Amino acid sequence: MAPQTLTENPFTLGVASGDPLPGSVVLWTRLAPRPYQVGGGLPPTGSVSVGWEIADDDRFGTPVQSGTVAAPAADNYTVHLDVRGLETAHVYYYRFHVGQWTSPVGRTRTAPAAGAAVSGLRLGLASCQQYDEGYYTALAHLAREDLDAVLFVGDYIYENAINAQAGARRYTDRPLPAVFNHWTVTLDDYRLRYALGKSDPDLQAAHASHPWIVTWDDHEVENNYAGDISQHNDPVAQFRKRRAAAYRAYWENMPLREAQRPKGPDMILYRRFQYGGLAQFDVLDTRQYRSDQAYGNGWNYPGPESENPARTLTGAAQERWLLDGFHASTATWNVIPQQVVFCRRKNTTAARSRLSMDAWDGYPASRQRVLAGAQQAGIGNLVVLTGDVHVHYAMDIKKDFNKPASPTLGVEFVGTSISSGFDGVDKPADWPTMTAANPHMKFYNGRRGYVLLSLDAQRVRADFRTVTGVRNPGAPISTAASFVSEAGNPGLKRA
Ligand SMILES: [Fe+2]
Repeated sequence: MAPQTLTENPFTLGVASGDPLPGSVVLWTRLAPRPYQVGGGLPPTGSVSVGWEIADDDRFGTPVQSGTVAAPAADNYTVHLDVRGLETAHVYYYRFHVGQWTSPVGRTRTAPAAGAAVSGLRLGLASCQQYDEGYYTALAHLAREDLDAVLFVGDYIYENAINAQAGARRYTDRPLPAVFNHWTVTLDDYRLRYALGKSDPDLQAAHASHPWIVTWDDHEVENNYAGDISQHNDPVAQFRKRRAAAYRAYWENMPLREAQRPKGPDMILYRRFQYGGLAQFDVLDTRQYRSDQAYGNGWNYPGPESENPARTLTGAAQERWLLDGFHASTATWNVIPQQVVFCRRKNTTAARSRLSMDAWDGYPASRQRVLAGAQQAGIGNLVVLTGDVHVHYAMDIKKDFNKPASPTLGVEFVGTSISSGFDGVDKPADWPTMTAANPHMKFYNGRRGYVLLSLDAQRVRADFRTVTGVRNPGAPISTAASFVSEAGNPGLKRA
């Protein structure tokens, strides 16, 4: 359709950038004059030509590059522009045009040149933004941080039927259409769920302020799914159809390259980023290829089923890719942004205790292969970054979690949710037990927020940021605790 026929503003869902490489970054937007309608208020077929520009300053006096890009109906009128030939380690501003309409301005940053000396990196770690459980206040604060990139490690949407009465949001300013009151199953359902989340001004601000590197967890498809196996054991063919719809909507709505575009129910989301010689990021997908959870999905006693060495959380191909990447790595820090808790968490102080069968605790052989591979490759500075559980944790990764004196092989920072779980509390009911049962657990906090990570040649530092609540908008942010781990001497210390 001709751009001049767009009589309503199509830029209702903001702009985004992501997957920064040396001199290259993906720019994203979606045209949706009516975001809460199937199709967004645009025709079901065709394409719109979208103008774009990228510049050194937000006034766009002399754009360094500009052009047009197609937003096809087949991609729900989304744009995934892979801009190349940019400077390395450079801040840029970008925007889009259609007819009389201009998008908000986004700010992004390319990655440093391969092998470049990088003095420091600052990253945000965020996850779990259930729309109906609270405002995205933490993302408004994240937008104002000075960051190289945001790592978002899953549960960008939730597939639940939204109960507007029970939810934490006040919908009086923008009534919630009835379409959100059922579970997401179809492509239209998933697309609408992204539109709902992306209509939030705080989420738009966080995307417009920094490039994002994303991976998913379960709720982008279905709670606790494992590969082809749905939570309620739906017929596999039926679930693969649902997964294909969910993956397609995910790709459409994230600042990802063509290489990640799904083929039916398959999408290669694990990928690697280098920030000069300072850090290598191996972004994992721990949902698509995993064995089914042992002993059900919840907390249960480990046994022969969970300890079966044939079980995998990553799948064989991704595991090989990860271990090969360890061997090839020359970076000071090896960072693994991923979904589910890596360190052991017992929920009693007894020797035999239940563990989360959905986390790495339910796949101990898989965890041991990753740790053994890291050790064989001489990876001394391993940092695992996690989401999923809606609380902050800081934990030492132990060679043997049953022996507190065994070597510390790295550190894990688990970031709490943006809004999932409503306001939260500093010390949840199980706080005394969890901290006593797991001596490698150095910090636990149950508020909403995100983690600020700073890396340099000497140390990694995590600032656990929390807001006082998400039931009402506008809560202030503060730092609940800060930890460091030194390069060459892994182990958490209070900063
Ligand atoms: Fe979550």
